[in-house]
Amino acid sequence: MSTAASEKPRRVTTHVVQEMKLRREKIAMLTAYDYSFAKILDRAGIDVILVGDSASNVMAGHETTVPITLNEMIYHASSVVRAIERALVIVDMPFGSYQGNSKEALNSAIRIMKETGAHGVKLEGGREIIESVSRIISAGIPVMGHLGLTPQAIHKFGTYVVRAKEEAEAKKLVDDAHLLEEAGCFALVLEKIPAALGGQVAGELKIPVIGIGAGRFVDGQVLVLHDMLGITQDFSPRFLRRYHNLYQEITKAITNYIDDVKNLEFPNEKEQY
Ligand code: KIV
Repeated sequence: MSTAASEKPRRVTTHVVQEMKLRREKIAMLTAYDYSFAKILDRAGIDVILVGDSASNVMAGHETTVPITLNEMIYHASSVVRAIERALVIVDMPFGSYQGNSKEALNSAIRIMKETGAHGVKLEGGREIIESVSRIISAGIPVMGHLGLTPQAIHKFGTYVVRAKEEAEAKKLVDDAHLLEEAGCFALVLEKIPAALGGQVAGELKIPVIGIGAGRFVDGQVLVLHDMLGITQDFSPRFLRRYHNLYQEITKAITNYIDDVKNLEFPNEKEQY
């Protein structure tokens, strides 16, 4: 970051990410679920931190994002917010906290905002949740949309394959994207769709479009932190670039520690009182 050490960094707001789209500066977003990683991401200069419901898989070991609860998301989000000086923090509304009932959706969003200090929420879906989206936005809460592969609906779709390859599904996605923009969403995530479609949506919308497996023609990118750091190993979709193999690095450190303890090499004289 170019900010001098004594200066407070300029906070990223929903307006800042919209300005970034206007000046064609790409938006970098990653997930975080805890204080320590969030602090590293924030100080490294990440624009947006998503407290994703992928915490259900990554932190809790569930097979899907369906089981994670509102209370659990609030715990993760408040840990992340405590670490932040600059980044915009958006929190996934978990499955069951907004579908079907817009009043309950608003109550869930209010709890997230009041109890975590985060800056906005993300919801999966288009037309079918538009009433909830509008009601949350009317209360002054920024909403990020999420279309394409929507993992909370995994039991409806049955698979995590690329979405919107067929014309009808692509058309519905484009219509939903416009609907979410008209409802007042400040940004949109597109997950696992053809690159050309990602580019089309980013070109048609005024709000920033952030992709995960949606190609290079969108306004920004998001990845799950534990996947891009190589902590998780059993998940290798084409869109995932691994920037490190932390699983191996951490395993090496742990086995060295075990060996040192067993061989009486830790602690040494200088490491005791
Ligand atoms: O939960 C999550 O991590 C997400 C990203 C994959 C966009 O929604």
